[in-house]
Amino acid sequence: MTDPKDRLTAPVPRRRFVEVLLGSGFLATVVAFLYPVWQYLIPPKASDLGGDSVVAGRVGELKPNSGKIFRFGERPGLLIRTADGQYRAMSATCTHLSCTVQYRDDLHEVWCACHNGMYDLNGRNTSGPPPRPLEGFEVQVRGDEIFVRRRREA
Ligand code: FES
Repeated sequence: MTDPKDRLTAPVPRRRFVEVLLGSGFLATVVAFLYPVWQYLIPPKASDLGGDSVVAGRVGELKPNSGKIFRFGERPGLLIRTADGQYRAMSATCTHLSCTVQYRDDLHEVWCACHNGMYDLNGRNTSGPPPRPLEGFEVQVRGDEIFVRRRREA
């Protein structure tokens, strides 16, 4: 009869060691393959880090009839200074297939280069494939800073 102590202190056979090593390697390979597939199929929830209000720019930064892209949470926003000096802000994500739109100073309109979609200065879709207007934002100038925030639901 063998002593239980001898079994605990007996060296692990080489064959068993190789089996564990190969099994671990195979398991790691499977996890490394499946994790990106899992992340692709079930992406993490996007968090809107910007909250409801961001500083989109500074007074004097934009000359009349120009625009700039700013970061609004995880999405781009478009700040426009019209030819008569008013500020407008809207989402810069095209409502067609989510390309980033830009201000066209030659047309005085917002343009999506992906499929030639057009929006007016209020974000309304005017031509091309975009099915809906851009989300409009409120603009508030406080001191030297231009704040942009989501419109409150009435
Ligand atoms: S993605 Fe903007 S027009 Fe198609």
